[in-house]
Amino acid sequence: DTPELVDRFGRVARDLRVSLIDKCNLRCTYCMPAEGLPWLKRAELLDTAEMVRLIRIAVEQLGVTTVRFTGGEPLLRKDLVDIVAATSALPSAPKTSLTTNGINLGDWAAQLVDAGLDRVNVSLDTLDRQVFRELTRRDRFDDVLAGLRAAKDTGLEPVKVNAVLMRGTNEHEACDLLRYCIEHGYQLRFIEQMPLDAQHEWDRAQMITAEEILQLLGTEFTLTPHTAERGSAPAERWLVDGGPATVGVIASVTKPFCAACDRTRLTADGQLRSCLFSTTETDLRGPLRDGAEDAELMRLWQATMWAKAAGHGMDSGEFAQPDRPMSAIGG
Ligand code: GTP
Ligand code: 5AD
Ligand code: SF4
Repeated sequence: DTPELVDRFGRVARDLRVSLIDKCNLRCTYCMPAEGLPWLKRAELLDTAEMVRLIRIAVEQLGVTTVRFTGGEPLLRKDLVDIVAATSALPSAPKTSLTTNGINLGDWAAQLVDAGLDRVNVSLDTLDRQVFRELTRRDRFDDVLAGLRAAKDTGLEPVKVNAVLMRGTNEHEACDLLRYCIEHGYQLRFIEQMPLDAQHEWDRAQMITAEEILQLLGTEFTLTPHTAERGSAPAERWLVDGGPATVGVIASVTKPFCAACDRTRLTADGQLRSCLFSTTETDLRGPLRDGAEDAELMRLWQATMWAKAAGHGMDSGEFAQPDRPMSAIGG
């Protein structure tokens, strides 16, 4: 029988998240400092063939069925379309998706769909140009809206929007964001802020909780539980005013979904992570460049997942934020 990526708790990893690049063209205050970060050097990044080989091993030999491309900002990777095309063309035909800030998506959406991309999730935290500029430190609001529109126009379905609410910055926009997404046919999800910022400034007391998000939305909308099977999806979904529109809340902090986690992660520099919050990684790039056979890489991948922790343990006294920030893990 085919080997799978299983862990000691019986979870099976079928969802691969690949961070293609750690760089970004925004500087969201909750993610990284204004000056950016010490980016990975070109030689440290896996090249196209290396990326595709590892994805192929995961999909064809280790039971992965969905592949999501993240960053940093994955559209900054020049070979993104090639990687998506090579992934979609694998015999097992995995589902492919992209998590992007939306800038330049207007230019690439059609080519990505042609390459076989199935879905896209776009980050949008505000509908106020001025707030966007303050929050992302860049004046690219119109580019993001254009990217979203292009995604919709190419027929990608669903187009999901991710929003992080920050106290005193955009929390007052929760209802506006939902109304906007419903009007434009985007599926909105609010995300609790996690301790993954490069500055290590996350403060639980400042975080807007799922409960608060639902309260904010409740002032203008009636939310009822969405009955569809949630499976390993991170978002708990609600019907808005009876449906069909929905809104999701990803409560990674107050309601962790680790027990149903089906994820495995590969970083742009070829390190495996069994969890977003892992404090250890497995180097695949070294063995890969030293000529390792598929079987050796498979063994390393399986061993990494076997060692996966039960959960992120944020509420245990021993929780430590990983050294690698969100922008280099890929969320
Ligand atoms: P789909 O539900 O398949 O559309 O994608 P997704 O929500 O998993 O992906 P996306 O990249 O849009 O991530 C949305 C948010 O969920 C981000 O803030 C991620 O960091 C967070 N997230 C993704 N995977 C995990 C995970 O394994 N654990 C936790 N705690 N958060 C995650
Ligand atoms: N906590 C939660 N979500 C975050 N994102 C970036 N940093 C964090 C964090 N610390 C979001 C982005 C994007 C998604 C992939 O993750 O805003 O929407
Ligand atoms: Fe870039 Fe995403 Fe970080 Fe914002 S949250 S700076 S879009 S990587």
